[in-house]
Amino acid sequence: MDKLVIEGGHPLRGSIKISGAKNAALPLIAATLLAPGRHTVRNVPNLRDTRTILKLLESFGAKTELAADGTLTVDSDEISNLEASYELVKTMRASVLVLGPLLARFGRARVSLPGGCAIGARPIDFHLQALEKMGARLVLREGYVEAQAEASLAGAEVCFDIPSVTGTENILMAAALAKGVTVLKNAAREPEVGNLIEMLQAMGAEIEGRDTDRLTIRGVPRLKAADSAVIPDRIETGTYLIAVGAVGGEVTLTNCRPGHLPSVLDKLRQVGLVIEEGEDSIRVARRGALRNVDVKTMPYPGFPTDLQAQVMSLMAMTNGGLSVIHETIFENRFMHVAELRRLGADIRVDGRSAIVKGAGGFVGAKVMATDLRASASLVIAGLAAQGLTEISRIYHLERGYDNLVGKLRALGAKVQQMRE
Ligand code: UD1
Repeated sequence: MDKLVIEGGHPLRGSIKISGAKNAALPLIAATLLAPGRHTVRNVPNLRDTRTILKLLESFGAKTELAADGTLTVDSDEISNLEASYELVKTMRASVLVLGPLLARFGRARVSLPGGCAIGARPIDFHLQALEKMGARLVLREGYVEAQAEASLAGAEVCFDIPSVTGTENILMAAALAKGVTVLKNAAREPEVGNLIEMLQAMGAEIEGRDTDRLTIRGVPRLKAADSAVIPDRIETGTYLIAVGAVGGEVTLTNCRPGHLPSVLDKLRQVGLVIEEGEDSIRVARRGALRNVDVKTMPYPGFPTDLQAQVMSLMAMTNGGLSVIHETIFENRFMHVAELRRLGADIRVDGRSAIVKGAGGFVGAKVMATDLRASASLVIAGLAAQGLTEISRIYHLERGYDNLVGKLRALGAKVQQMRE
């Protein structure tokens, strides 16, 4: 296993390119299962999670080829196996995204239940209830969901209790090939959902309501392979913006979409960062002292839960003052708090809120990565800390940050990846 060793205190300067979004690449890749032919998906990030979903597709019989420039081709003509094994699903919950497309195109699928995960229970009951409403027969056996649909799935009216991102994506894919009209209310409005809708439309799907919480999908008998591109990663973008806030310096992020980070840019401006938005770039600089802000995570366009840990590192660095960080999406997403405390942060957790008292900075120590975004908060703290920080179990970071070490080094950070 590898660890990261960071010598803190070197301001970040220069320019880096933001990669394609993990959370958009995964549903786009799953959507290639919906139609035979040769699909092209561009701007696919080089991540452990994208490699995992490609392995899953190959295990079904699809042929995949990912070029060094991020152009992926998938040939899903011959799908001979309809089972997503526990071995692959347990490493990535988002594997459940194959359920909708397999069921819609082949009328059956067997997908391992994802099980628990470090940031909470994260059930998939919304996905299953919606598919049942669309006529699927579901049996939970030996840790697997066994799903079957008679001739084809049927359109239905579905309303989610909470807007689920992958739930919305699964139902969009299932409904695209269902008989009749599906109306999905309280749908997730994340840009990654919009990216999937664009791809499905290019494949011939009839979908209305993009970027709203009410989606209408008129099923079509068949879809065709298409050429699509993954949108830039707004969470990677936000992570680098926050890193500059914590460490100081001035950085330009290219190939990103400022319009996908409305609440994040607002919040970081309140913190005191200078942010200039270009059409597809953002320049960020830290000029004065950091100010305390309160943060509440919300579905898009609110502040993303996937940046909660990182912004907590930033708030731990203010000179005194309190910030309240309230997590509304996942019940157990404060695993990073104990590790940030090891680096000198003053944070108290009370239910779903973390009360952060600015301690003026961090002091390097040995810490352990617990989940993907928690790991990013430790990297940010390590970059800002006095002395050396060693982060073990960095495989979590490799799930979601493309070339993290290379990008940080390009900005002047002193980071090394080595064997533990
Ligand atoms: C996606 C993102 C993840 C992000 C999360 C919230 C991907 C691959 N992952 O995860 O990075 O942190 O959105 O923005 O896109 N829920 C249920 N039952 C369900 C489904 C969800 O109770 O069947 C609850 C969840 O426990 C959570 C909330 O709904 O409290 C939102 O979760 P959801 O949007 O589904 O998260 P994911 O799609 O798994």
